[in-house]
Amino acid sequence: MTTIYNDIKKNIIQNFKPDSKISNLIYFDSINSTNTYAKEISHEAKHGTLIVADKQTQGRGRSGHTFESPSGTGLYMTLILKPKIEISEFQMITIADAVAVCLAIENLYPASKDELKIKWVNDVLFRGKKISGILTEAVNFNGKVESIVTGIGINITTHKFEGIFNAGAIFDEGEKILFSREELCAKIADYIMDFAEDLNNPEIISEYRRRSILTGKNISYIKGDTKFFAEVLGINDDGGLIVLNQNSEKEILRSGEVSMIR
Ligand code: BTN
Repeated sequence: MTTIYNDIKKNIIQNFKPDSKISNLIYFDSINSTNTYAKEISHEAKHGTLIVADKQTQGRGRSGHTFESPSGTGLYMTLILKPKIEISEFQMITIADAVAVCLAIENLYPASKDELKIKWVNDVLFRGKKISGILTEAVNFNGKVESIVTGIGINITTHKFEGIFNAGAIFDEGEKILFSREELCAKIADYIMDFAEDLNNPEIISEYRRRSILTGKNISYIKGDTKFFAEVLGINDDGGLIVLNQNSEKEILRSGEVSMIR
């Protein structure tokens, strides 16, 4: 067994680009959650520490959801970043992650071109189904954001979703799988590390906007106890969602779940 796991780690390392900025790779055959572990070690960890697991027993999604993480079918990875950013730029990490996921899949699987889209803020869709989610969390130390842990889960062939609406996988059951998890993991990590050097790089937000499915659509969202309806006007340079709400007021949404109205 150990040999297999060491092989996975070795294969990830072999797929990093020659000037990769990943500083450390920690691999688990099974862990509760790569994000939870990353938060535990973040104080001592270096910028660019990557944690990967074959399986998570308590994979976490946004808003307290569970992220189903069975062995052998998905990619579960978390990066620890220590970028010098303002808290207002925090959202840009998730934006950069979503773009990294799209570019990496497209690079390894050219047939997916034009079919990888993003639903603000953290969902990557393939052929209209959610195949990837992102959970970015700040770790505070002495009242300051010391580290950011950003976790990505991808359903490569996973078809067990436990109540997640509109979920899917990159490959259908029985379909030939055209790239390995290790290749995908290494590529995504390299893209994110490069993006993290300059989150204001306009290519990141323009690529995100190009793939965003909400622009021009009608949505609903909850603020406090009230449900609002709005039209999406676009995405601003910090990754906020610009909407025109039912009271004809322009608003910037920073986080939270939004639902598209069909
Ligand atoms: C979502 O869609 O709500 C976000 C899902 C994020 C899942 C990933 S899998 C790797 C990392 N570890 C976790 O426990 N969650 C993230």
